[in-house]
Amino acid sequence: MKILVTGGAGFIGSHVVDAYVAAGHEVVVVDDLSTGKRENLNPKAKFHQVDVQDPRVIELIRDERPAVVNLHAAQMDVRRSVADPVFDARTNIIGLIQCLEGARKANARRVIFVSSGGAAYGEQEAFPAPETHPTNPVSPYGVSKRAGELYAFFYRAEYQLPFFALRYANVYGPRQDPHGEAGVVAIFAGKMLRGEPITVNGDGKQTRDYVFVGDVVQANLATLEHEPCGAVNVGTGVETDVNRLAELMLQASGSASQVKHGPAKQGEQRRSVIDCTKAAERLGWRPTVPLAEGLRRTVDWFRTRAGKA
Ligand SMILES: NC(=O)c1ccc[n+]([C@@H]2O[C@H](COP(=O)([O-])OP(=O)(O)OC[C@H]3O[C@@H](n4cnc5c(N)ncnc54)[C@H](O)[C@@H]3O)[C@@H](O)[C@H]2O)c1
Repeated sequence: MKILVTGGAGFIGSHVVDAYVAAGHEVVVVDDLSTGKRENLNPKAKFHQVDVQDPRVIELIRDERPAVVNLHAAQMDVRRSVADPVFDARTNIIGLIQCLEGARKANARRVIFVSSGGAAYGEQEAFPAPETHPTNPVSPYGVSKRAGELYAFFYRAEYQLPFFALRYANVYGPRQDPHGEAGVVAIFAGKMLRGEPITVNGDGKQTRDYVFVGDVVQANLATLEHEPCGAVNVGTGVETDVNRLAELMLQASGSASQVKHGPAKQGEQRRSVIDCTKAAERLGWRPTVPLAEGLRRTVDWFRTRAGKA
């Protein structure tokens, strides 16, 4: 089937594109290459270098007539969203609405919107958080992701366009850039492989739910086979603090880098972990890659890449 993927040159989107192509689908990528990379583009996918903020993206999607529209393009830097909330909203809200308009006009059969299982919930009241947990985002990025879900809900109600909103936990893996929500893995990997000291913010007891990109790809494949059911958490349900993450990465890299503690980041979420029972029930999806193994694969990728540079 024909699938249009926005953000298909990015870290996660490019892995999703590769899997869709490998499964025999016809894939069209829309990406402005702002953070995505040309080298990530799958040569078997058709590519449009377009900004989703550009109103012409509506006609582009309409004319491509994809059966599925998968929306990975986003401004995904939480700190940038705080510094420039207008830019964040232009990409993550206006850009998203334009893509949904395109999907509607194309008579797409379903939309897979990528939301956030960290920033959209905000400081959690229950651990792990199920999809029914209150959403109290404390960054413009979290607000724009939640708004995206509500727009997708509107398109379903008004135009019977079914959707998934995949609420990703902190995704890590090969091709990750050090700028992202889970950028800490990429930052640590680079420093450890160079033997430089790494800095842990504050006491390092802040926790996240780290999910390997290969597992996230499997969730995107599963969305093609199952009935769309709105918001679905895609994580592991396992809470890991930064101290433990650093320890596991030192083991994975065999590095002797020194671990230092710097000042705590103001406003940083303290604990984040999501319940993935719904994904198991509705998508038949479960994470399969344990953190130590995923980190080993990620560090290996960074090592190979450093060797080529
Ligand atoms: N990395 C994570 O841990 C994580 C967690 C939760 C949600 N997400 C979401 O997953 C998606 C992919 O994130 P990623 O980590 O792969 O980041 P990324 O920056 O590598 O990917 C985003 C892609 O979107 C493209 N893009 C950005 N603005 C665009 C625009 N205006 N028009 C067209 N293309 C544009 C970029 O060039 C890039 O290829 C995003 O929606 C992000 O919010 C990521």
